[in-house]
Amino acid sequence: MNKIAAVIVASDSRSDGRREDLTGPAAAEALEALGIGTVEISVVPDEIDSLADEMINWCDRDDVLLVLTCGGTGLAPRDVTPEATLEVVERAVPGIGQLLRQKSLEITPHAALSRGIAGIRNGTLIVNLPGSPRAVTESIGFLAPILPHAIETISGRASECGRK
Ligand code: MTE
Repeated sequence: MNKIAAVIVASDSRSDGRREDLTGPAAAEALEALGIGTVEISVVPDEIDSLADEMINWCDRDDVLLVLTCGGTGLAPRDVTPEATLEVVERAVPGIGQLLRQKSLEITPHAALSRGIAGIRNGTLIVNLPGSPRAVTESIGFLAPILPHAIETISGRASECGRK
């Protein structure tokens, strides 16, 4: 299995050890079910600079084609993952946020409270997911039909849509 994904968990309490991180492993497991290996799970505080630096580090690596962030997309004062993502992406991919909200709204109205976005930096797709293990597993399931084609297109390995 190619290890092409990095998972960033945005959480103050998990980054300082007050709470165990169950979200990163849930993301890695759901990615694995799609045949996508995870290079590393990093846990960082809910700070724009820390999150942006972490995203840049992974996007700078040529072998990392997907960065999933988990958490910090809601309405709490320290939920700043979308703002950090906006700082680093070169091109936005609004349809991915739309897809996640549309599908998630079929499960919970709280999906409307996730402000997650997606975009591309240096040939790497960054997608913001909500932070609970359940939300992450559900969201990766919703991404399953589009992720392989998205990654291949961004990296220039697929030039055609492939859908007849
Ligand atoms: N999306 C899915 N698929 N499943 C969920 O359980 N939880 C929602 C929403 N999106 C949820 C979801 C909730 S309760 C919140 S507050 C927002 O995501 C933001 O979550 P975050 O602050 O952990 O990023």
